[in-house]
Amino acid sequence: MAERSSTPFISYYVSLPILLGLLFSSSWNLVSAHQKENQGENNSTQCPAKIGECSSLKCAFEIFDASFFNDTEMLEIVKGAKEFNIPIMRANRKLVASVNGGLQYPSVLVFNPQWDTTKHSQPNTKTFKYPSSSAVRRPSNDEDIAFMTIIELGQLIKTKQITSLELTEIFLRRLNRYNGVLEVVVSYTEELAHKQAKEADNLLAKGVYLGPLHGIPYGLKDIISVPKYKTTWGSTTFKNQVLNTEAWVYKRLKAAGAVLVAKLVSGSLASVDVWFGGRTRNPWNIEEFSTGSSAGPAASTSAGMVPFAIGSETAGSISFPAARCGITGLRPTFGTVGRTGVMSLSESLDKLGPFCRSAADCAVVLDAIRGKDPNDMSSRDVPFEDPFLVDITKLTVGYLEDAEIEVVKVLASKGVKMVPFKLNYTVDSVQGILNFTMDVDMLAHFDQWQRSGSDHSYEVQDQWPTELRRARLIPAVDYVQAQRARGKLIREVEESFRSVDAFIGNATDWERVCMGNLVGIPVIVVPTGLKPISHPPANTRRRTTITTGIFAPPQRDHIALALAMAYQSVTNHHKQRPPIDDLGPHDIVNIPKSPPPP
Ligand SMILES: *[C@@H]1O[C@H](CO)[C@@H](O)[C@H](O)[C@H]1NC(C)=O
Ligand SMILES: *[C@@H]1O[C@H](CO)[C@@H](O)[C@H](O)[C@H]1NC(C)=O
Ligand SMILES: *[C@@H]1O[C@H](CO)[C@@H](O)[C@H](O)[C@H]1NC(C)=O
Ligand SMILES: *[C@@H]1O[C@H](CO)[C@@H](O)[C@H](O)[C@H]1NC(C)=O
Ligand SMILES: *[C@@H]1O[C@H](CO)[C@@H](O)[C@H](O)[C@H]1NC(C)=O
Ligand SMILES: *[C@@H]1O[C@H](CO)[C@@H](O)[C@H](O)[C@H]1NC(C)=O
Repeated sequence: MAERSSTPFISYYVSLPILLGLLFSSSWNLVSAHQKENQGENNSTQCPAKIGECSSLKCAFEIFDASFFNDTEMLEIVKGAKEFNIPIMRANRKLVASVNGGLQYPSVLVFNPQWDTTKHSQPNTKTFKYPSSSAVRRPSNDEDIAFMTIIELGQLIKTKQITSLELTEIFLRRLNRYNGVLEVVVSYTEELAHKQAKEADNLLAKGVYLGPLHGIPYGLKDIISVPKYKTTWGSTTFKNQVLNTEAWVYKRLKAAGAVLVAKLVSGSLASVDVWFGGRTRNPWNIEEFSTGSSAGPAASTSAGMVPFAIGSETAGSISFPAARCGITGLRPTFGTVGRTGVMSLSESLDKLGPFCRSAADCAVVLDAIRGKDPNDMSSRDVPFEDPFLVDITKLTVGYLEDAEIEVVKVLASKGVKMVPFKLNYTVDSVQGILNFTMDVDMLAHFDQWQRSGSDHSYEVQDQWPTELRRARLIPAVDYVQAQRARGKLIREVEESFRSVDAFIGNATDWERVCMGNLVGIPVIVVPTGLKPISHPPANTRRRTTITTGIFAPPQRDHIALALAMAYQSVTNHHKQRPPIDDLGPHDIVNIPKSPPPP
């Protein structure tokens, strides 16, 4: 401490309160150009116009070791910090920081001193009991095959009615055919797919059957690394990047016998649906976009271009595109699926999960990809019960005001006790806690990207670049307060859950998306119907999808899955096929497009 006052930094040290006062005061004397305009608003508590050689604002940013921003950016950051950061800091302080001593509200981010996690992990051997549908017959046309579930396709393979290679060809053809319309593929992995399909067929010929994913084609969101192919993260900056890492989730699917056919669109740096090559569309209405960021996985599964795909969610990236594209999507309990080899926004929020044609398929995929990843400190061997063995008549399920009433009725008719429900937590800064956590973590991972000005080539300038510049000014102490407030939220949600085993409600309500991700609870998004699009052209088959979310407590994914399976066992909404062949005269689409080289 003593050394500090003898360093040249002393002058900054002394000026710090003044500088911070300047940063967060309501009017600005920034660079000399602005000073002239602002002369009418002098306020004696403000900083002197110049401190030493620097303009006052530049000095302030130097204290943050962030002198790389230009004047326009600094002004924007400060405006954003005042508008967005300060209210969140104040709200969280009020929630958890009014008493000194740290006896209450510990941060949820936990330190674990364990060294070699590989030594202590027990491989998970228990698998779910899948329903067998032995009566499955191979349909006569490829389109009907393309819209079969994993469980049905698995049966076709197991009974040798189709080979994995044939199936792979069908899906590669569909990917090629519709990619020009939907813009879902970043890289085809044709060569690898042929190799893996042949291996699956050879194994089966030798009498080895690996389980329901044996020989089933699938796609991966392009934030997931696969050696020898590009892993672009959807971003212009990284569009030629090759990471020679086998992502943990890819290893798991490989071990289960699945066949990778394509790397699918991630919105740029895992946000929205805009990527370096275009913008992914919604198969149910190609005039509209898919939302993101698991844009490619959702849209291609919906359009029957893959039987399933793996996406990820930090804050809505499975829920939103699953809902928009009308497909069943599962965001599992945080920590269920290892993330080694996956681009990271936030260690305490990122989750991998499947997009499928049914909830039963989601259970099948989850079973293959769950388990402790020794190199992902947050991953755990989550002890799920078997979703296929849940007795739903023993469950009490809450429904929120915005739940789809048909789902409530169907589940009640299946013997589930349905009760009206409210999530009555008191934490009022949920969206702010999410922003702080995601933005600070993301900035830590993309520090160099921002410092070098690479963010200037980001596809949507008012999104990550703006948000991450603002994150520069979030003090570490307020990041920790956010993690303490998050802990308070978790306890309150836990309390709310006491009376129910699960609850049903709108899966895309933003506050709920933030809450669910901060707390780490699972949700399955289930299609529940279709409605007309607004201003429909004559004879259009385009529709707006309706969905609902089934939420369960952490490690109770099997409950959400079982309820979704019960609903889907007596309804057909999840079996509808989107009208991707229904191109109108005014559709500007880009067909045919030859596949990029691998
Ligand atoms: C000067 O700025 C401070 C801090 O924003 C504010 O509290 C104070 O009311 C201002 N004084 C005048 C005279 O505007
Ligand atoms: C700014 O300061 C000058 C001189 O101190 C004073 O005369 C003037 O009223 C102040 N203007 C405002 C808007 O406070
Ligand atoms: C400052 O940055 C903004 C946005 O990042 C950019 O649009 C502008 O051209 C830059 N200005 C200068 C003078 O470099
Ligand atoms: C969180 O960040 C987003 C994106 O910048 C912004 O639109 C939203 O208002 C922020 N929410 C809060 C509570 O600050
Ligand atoms: C929420 O309401 C339930 C009763 O429905 C009550 O038991 C619980 O304590 C409440 N939780 C909070 C955080 O207020
Ligand atoms: C769910 O909430 C979103 C956002 O508030 C809204 O746009 C959507 O229409 C809602 N969906 C349903 C089915 O209520």
